[in-house]
Amino acid sequence: MRRPSGNATVPLMDALSRPVIPPAPYIHPGELSTPRLVIETLKNTLGNWSRVAFDELAGRRRVLGMDSMLVSDPAAIRQILQTNMAGYVRPLASVRPVKPLAGDGVLLSEGAAWRRQRRMLAPAFTPASVGALLPHFHAAAEGLVRGLTGKSRVNLAEAFHEAALDAVLSALFSLPADGRREDMARMVRDYLGGPGRPTMFDGFARAENDFPFVLGARRRFRKLWFAEVDAIVAERRAAPPREDQGDLLALLLAARDPETGEPLSDAEIRDQSATMLLAGFETTSRLLFWAAYLLCLDPAEQARLRAEVAAFPPERVATLDDIQHWPRLRNVLLETMRLYPPVPLIMRQATGPDVVCGEHIDKGCLIWISPWVLHRHTRFWDQPTAFMPDRFAGKSNPWISEPAYLPFGAGPRICIGASFALAEASIVLATLLSRFEISLDDDRSVLPLGGVTTGSTVEPWFRVEEFR
Ligand code: HEM
Repeated sequence: MRRPSGNATVPLMDALSRPVIPPAPYIHPGELSTPRLVIETLKNTLGNWSRVAFDELAGRRRVLGMDSMLVSDPAAIRQILQTNMAGYVRPLASVRPVKPLAGDGVLLSEGAAWRRQRRMLAPAFTPASVGALLPHFHAAAEGLVRGLTGKSRVNLAEAFHEAALDAVLSALFSLPADGRREDMARMVRDYLGGPGRPTMFDGFARAENDFPFVLGARRRFRKLWFAEVDAIVAERRAAPPREDQGDLLALLLAARDPETGEPLSDAEIRDQSATMLLAGFETTSRLLFWAAYLLCLDPAEQARLRAEVAAFPPERVATLDDIQHWPRLRNVLLETMRLYPPVPLIMRQATGPDVVCGEHIDKGCLIWISPWVLHRHTRFWDQPTAFMPDRFAGKSNPWISEPAYLPFGAGPRICIGASFALAEASIVLATLLSRFEISLDDDRSVLPLGGVTTGSTVEPWFRVEEFR
């Protein structure tokens, strides 16, 4: 096995006695000065943390005039995301980069508009509705495998990105994979890696239109992206799927507000569709990438998963319950999201005074809830930096029951697509493992890179060997 190098924690594979310690950015021993913090944050939002963040429950500091608090105390997190959620909003800094992709859909809306949208979307994400989407996930998984067949050296980050986009395009709109899929995948990647990367100007902005020089490229992207989504919705409306071939758009078009009986407007359908497209593929493809990467660092775990999948092959998965035949695979996905949370940062801003972790905060205080920090916190995890999927054995919904495990957020705004994502990732990964052995074929150092989602500093080459 190749060992990635670099300034990361050295990944060690000693399957007999010690767990794998996968790479992570350097943790600074002491608090960084403000200029250094700004520089490190610009380089990598996962590389700016100091030791104390992983040991203490809260940390407060004024950065460039902004009162900010990192909160890792589960009780305080519950207060912010749940019991006093009305006292907080998503800050402009986290909304501005995402808005051109997600419009005014449920992800970014607030207050009464958010409540109405969430109510109307809920029926589309029940276990029964997600169960009906499994054929779409199987089709995406088969597409991935077809694309890898005959190749030996592949960029799995890119392949997962396209497979996850296939899955969501198919589940949302019953659209086949075609050339448009690659264009859309590229558009989103280029956006998130370019004009959509949060910058310090987003942090300083007091209004949506501040620092217009950052916004030009975002506005151009928004126009193109929404035109693309509008075209897909129009195409799909013109050719509805057969009745036995449900998709999410059918559920959105049929959705009625349980309180008023109103349907979603055309603009709302477009914004929800764009939101689901973004939320549904960017995160899941990151999860798949990091899971594959970890399984290459730990070939023994990869072999165990393969045996589990061979005992219940993916083609037998017809219902959500069938996925329970793969408990190890599930634990690997959960552990992957602990070590490399696809959404590395959840931000809120106080809309009025509050007391958090015993400290008085005023309106405007920025709250940082970092799954990245929380999931590696020394108070909550045994060997926090180690890849140990068994730590989740027997825990049925740890993202709800474990107070220090927040891959999907928490409270009423918890990810609506959690079971969608886990079902899709399980089917795609199981299908891949049922056909190929995967290993790393790249000497470059791979470190997680913080952005809207957790990417990687390089997209390494993988070797895929077909064995049947
Ligand atoms: C591994 C995959 C995923 C991860 C880790 C993830 C993570 C998250 C997190 C952390 C939040 C909360 C953000 C916050 O409170 O600020 C969230 C919200 C959301 N997610 Fe996911 N997500 C995933 C997949 C999906 C999928 C597949 C969909 C839809 C198809 C989806 C749709 C949404 C939506 C609509 C929201 C906003 C919910 C609201 O504000 O009411 N996500 N997600």
